[in-house]
Amino acid sequence: MMRLFIAVNFSAATKEKLLTLRDELRTRSTRGNFSLPENLHLTLVFLGECSPQQTAAAKAVLDAAPVAPFTLTIDRVGCFRRQGGDIWWAGACENKTLTALQQDVAERLTVLGFSLDNRNFSPHITLGRGVLTECKPWPIEAFGEVVAGIELMKSERMGGKLVYTPIHSKGV
Ligand code: 2AM
Repeated sequence: MMRLFIAVNFSAATKEKLLTLRDELRTRSTRGNFSLPENLHLTLVFLGECSPQQTAAAKAVLDAAPVAPFTLTIDRVGCFRRQGGDIWWAGACENKTLTALQQDVAERLTVLGFSLDNRNFSPHITLGRGVLTECKPWPIEAFGEVVAGIELMKSERMGGKLVYTPIHSKGV
């Protein structure tokens, strides 16, 4: 079994900008697990634990996904409130291409029997979890990049560290 999700990964330049936001948040927080540079990504769909058959099916869904380049813009820092420490993230602007791609992939997976989280897609890049801070969500000078594709990611805990590895790509 493998723990899988489908994500947009970013260029080094975009990661640098995300890290500046993470660091700003971190210096204004009293607690939190802040994302490592290599772990910064935007999740399209979380699949959870997958069998080899499900993994193969997820790869086929990526192959079939209508991926075309689009510009992703990040324009704010926000949070999801959680008991004991919030999730803070960099938020992406409303983007019809991204939303359509997310829906397409989620529908194809659902047809194949995956049971997905059916909450509304809220595109974000997690900067920290379990965060205690005085920060209020804030707008930022927008930045972004052209996203060419998406990747199937494996999530593992290795020596207490979260490690994400792309195992299949479409368009990148
Ligand atoms: P997050 O960034 O908002 O925490 C790998 O865990 C990725 O899948 C993360 O980006 C995480 O989103 C996302 N994800 C979505 N639903 C999840 C769930 N139920 N459990 C773990 N991760 C989930």
